Amino acid sequence: MVKAVVLGAAGGIGQPLSLLLKTNPLVTEHTQLSLYDIVNTPGVAADLSHISTPAKVTGYLPPDDGLKKALTGAEVVIIPAGVPRKPGMTRDDLFKINAGIVRDLAVGIATTAPKAFVLVISNPVNSTVPIVAEVFKKHGVFDPKRIFGVTTLDVVRASTFVSEILGDLSLASKITVPVVGGHSGVTIVPLLSQSSHPLPSGFAQEEVDKLTNRIQFGGDEVVKAKDGAGSATLSMAYAGAEFAYKVIRAAKGEKGIVAPTFVNLAADKEGGDALKKEIGRDLEYFSAPVELGPEGVVKINSLGKISEYESTLIKNAVPELATNIEKGVSFIEPSK
Ligand code: NAI
Repeated sequence: MVKAVVLGAAGGIGQPLSLLLKTNPLVTEHTQLSLYDIVNTPGVAADLSHISTPAKVTGYLPPDDGLKKALTGAEVVIIPAGVPRKPGMTRDDLFKINAGIVRDLAVGIATTAPKAFVLVISNPVNSTVPIVAEVFKKHGVFDPKRIFGVTTLDVVRASTFVSEILGDLSLASKITVPVVGGHSGVTIVPLLSQSSHPLPSGFAQEEVDKLTNRIQFGGDEVVKAKDGAGSATLSMAYAGAEFAYKVIRAAKGEKGIVAPTFVNLAADKEGGDALKKEIGRDLEYFSAPVELGPEGVVKINSLGKISEYESTLIKNAVPELATNIEKGVSFIEPSK
């Protein structure tokens, strides 16, 4: 039995994500799905509960200790709560509102379900993950192996865009491209040289540059197309569910599951230290391919062989990442 909780479940991501969790045959038999939001969760839960799959769905609102009830017994908590971007905004622009939302939800998790795996979708991920970690530290329940920034959408976009270039969309779900660094603009570093399906021979550096830029700023395409109505929701729900399934399957004992995710590098000291050497800076967090297991992070993999171009991308990502991380940490620190 797995109790999965979605915080922000009535939103643009929360609803389709909850639908995917309710309907996935891999996990639904064993899943109790608990939905929390400041609005509309009774309706979303009632709607989903009519779907003929075994997962039991319950909705909660803030009154009467709703957050606590939603989180009691949780093993996996997914957080897509918070405001999304509008055209012209960066993810960092969301910090003002989302930092406080994520902090308050993290306090709820730390006090009610401190052993749960926490999957943070709310942006800016580079800062909200440190916020969750600092709250957990303050409550004496911090385990770096159990807190993840969800960067899967970058990986999903990379696979899709590469399959488009190879002229075969049916390859999209088979292609793997590690995407490392962080989750915003230049901190998103696709390692195209390590694509499971190599780019066409003769693919010019200029085209690599264009593809890299499209992966880094793929979110902007959606924000622009939605024209003020928000950012990626459906592709994000797909990506979030994919990552959650991996965490759940690994928790149940399946071996060898690896996925890029933004983690505290103390989660695997040896792997984390090796990675810090590779990136040339003592960062506390980084998104890297991580092997998952019953207790969360088992191993942080090294970047391996990367091109000179990718090495430059990482150099460019590091200063912004460091700033984003520090912003999240210091949001909680003063009240220590
Ligand atoms: P949305 O506005 O449609 O939904 C957000 C939901 O959060 C709303 O239902 C709202 O009522 C709820 N909420 C607000 N404060 C809350 C609180 N204190 N407790 C519980 N729920 C609360 O936004 P959308 O499009 O679903 O995006 C959510 C977040 O996900 C945004 O921060 C967005 O930037 C981020 N995002 C992250 C991506 C990633 O790759 N990690 C990709 C796309 C979006």
